[in-house]
Amino acid sequence: MKNKKITRKITQGVYALTTLGGGCIVDAVSQISAGDNPLISVAVMKTNKTNELLKNNNSFAISVLGNNVDSKIIETFGLNSMRDINKFEKVETVEIENLKIIKDSIGYMICEIIDSIENDTHTLFIGRLKEADIFQEDEPMTYSYYQENKDELLKVVTSKGKTAWICPICGANKLDFKVKE
Ligand SMILES: Cc1cc2nc3c(=O)[nH]c(=O)nc-3n(C[C@H](O)[C@H](O)[C@H](O)COP(=O)(O)O)c2cc1C
Repeated sequence: MKNKKITRKITQGVYALTTLGGGCIVDAVSQISAGDNPLISVAVMKTNKTNELLKNNNSFAISVLGNNVDSKIIETFGLNSMRDINKFEKVETVEIENLKIIKDSIGYMICEIIDSIENDTHTLFIGRLKEADIFQEDEPMTYSYYQENKDELLKVVTSKGKTAWICPICGANKLDFKVKE
């Protein structure tokens, strides 16, 4: 393979995927058909708690995150597992069709799961759109924007008043990952 980095040029967004009992941040979302009730797919890692939850539910919601989103939402849903924390206690949500939608989002899509495809690492869940709305205008965050700005986005202030970054690999608990005076 001459340069696999070309795959990073596939335009993807940053979303909060939720279902009954949990959810996580995803970028692997795509619209696969048109019409009044288009099909939307989302690829979820088999190791994620959300994968297990989706297999026991018949619907999911995708909250579209904007560039001005509170980065705590990405940290909570993308760097932590529902196995360890209750993400819904840390982030404000609104309940629509029995699903929790991120309040600080551009809007949401609620889909009924109609199919799924397994591969070695991920399950591709396919849903039919049945409800959707826009809450506010903002520039939808792209995955490349996240990659370029994640150091800034995941910056926090420690209890000692120092600026620190949450390690995007280790997760939220490593506040001493990189401390700046
Ligand atoms: C920007 C970003 C994009 C992500 N994209 C995906 C994705 O497309 N699919 C996926 O399964 N996980 C993705 N993740 C990782 C999950 O959000 C992460 O593993 C999460 O902690 C899983 O939580 P859970 O165990 O509660 O499901 C992404 C994380 C971030 C920060």
